[in-house]
Amino acid sequence: MEPGAILKELNIRTLKELSLANRRVLVRADFNVPMDAEGRITDDTRLRGTLPTIEFVRKAEGRLILASHLGRPKGKKSPKDSLEVVGRWLAEALSSDVLVPDDCIGDAAAHLVQNQRPGQVILLENLRHHAGEEENSEDFARKLADLCDVYVNDAFGTVHRAHGSVVALPRLVPSRGAGLLLEREVEMLSRLVQSPDQPYFALLGGAKVSDKIEVIESLIPLVSGLVIGGAMACTFLAAQGHDLGKSKVEKDHEGLVRHLLKRCAERGVLVLLPLDHVVVKALTPAAPHRVVRNGEFEPDDMAVDIGPATIELFTNALAGRVPGQTTAPRTVLWNGPMGVFEMDAFATGTTAVARAVGQSAAVSVIGGGDSAAAIKKAGVTPLVTHVSTGGGASLEFLSGRSMPGIQALRGGRR
Ligand code: 3PG
Repeated sequence: MEPGAILKELNIRTLKELSLANRRVLVRADFNVPMDAEGRITDDTRLRGTLPTIEFVRKAEGRLILASHLGRPKGKKSPKDSLEVVGRWLAEALSSDVLVPDDCIGDAAAHLVQNQRPGQVILLENLRHHAGEEENSEDFARKLADLCDVYVNDAFGTVHRAHGSVVALPRLVPSRGAGLLLEREVEMLSRLVQSPDQPYFALLGGAKVSDKIEVIESLIPLVSGLVIGGAMACTFLAAQGHDLGKSKVEKDHEGLVRHLLKRCAERGVLVLLPLDHVVVKALTPAAPHRVVRNGEFEPDDMAVDIGPATIELFTNALAGRVPGQTTAPRTVLWNGPMGVFEMDAFATGTTAVARAVGQSAAVSVIGGGDSAAAIKKAGVTPLVTHVSTGGGASLEFLSGRSMPGIQALRGGRR
């Protein structure tokens, strides 16, 4: 597919098509990064992801104004949700001054923008300090629009939110388009929705089936295989009549899971579920654990990771070595960990899957922060084709839902 083809189809301008020199360019980024209790950034993937757009705008001599949300402060200002820490990260990465006014709108922001020197970067304070952001308020958006001549959305992780800086704002700024990260995300994920190279295998994990039902429904017509791990696999196994002890099973979704399995069978989709599990009696990092096969659970056993036979099954599937497969997958999507991977003792399955996805020759797309973290921890990030910066956004995109933040960019001019 030609670069920019999907955006062209949608009548959305790419960054390269916008006139940037000497204009005030507001880039809506997703700097909603995870932080530890001391307020240190623990994963800077999203920040790194936006650097190409930032550098492009600066090289084109645009006057760069960055805007983002952080956390969910619900319209209230609080120092723990300040973007200052992101400002410091950017200042170091860009070797440049990054000025952070204490409010994203109002006199201080207007004054900084008015007096911005060439090369200086302005990072507006957390947009969600104002209720107008989440309310998609036109009033709030107008105040942001007053600060810029050009609007660029590079916040793929937020395009599923109909918020002020994502929807109301671009509608007020005729000169608008997509940043380089958004462009890549749309191209890569569209490929999975529109024309995936076959065989296409989706590996899904994570805690809840209920979070992924729409994605599974949309994937069934597209994939050759569905590999299900993590806690959500327990609901699948329970729907097939297995007793999973004290493992988390969403009882009210068992019927729906049976319906999904029936649809897979009708369409010839190979479904792989865990054969064995690492189980504990209590969920603590040092809890004694053992491996049980399906049918061997004690009433107080809780599954926390996939077992060795399952690891072999899943990694074989990625290599095309499972009965029913004629060749290795040529497209792989992975979303969601295989167990409680944040505890090292129960990260073996997730790490093994991460390595196998990295080693696969397929076009590989990783969606969701947990899988991205696992890929990073396994040291195989450079081997995968695309690590999406969207959590909820990538799932909604793959479910075929319309993204308000993408729709709002249509029909702009230079
Ligand atoms: C995310 O982290 O998925 C995005 O930044 C959106 O954040 P939200 O779920 O708080 O809207």
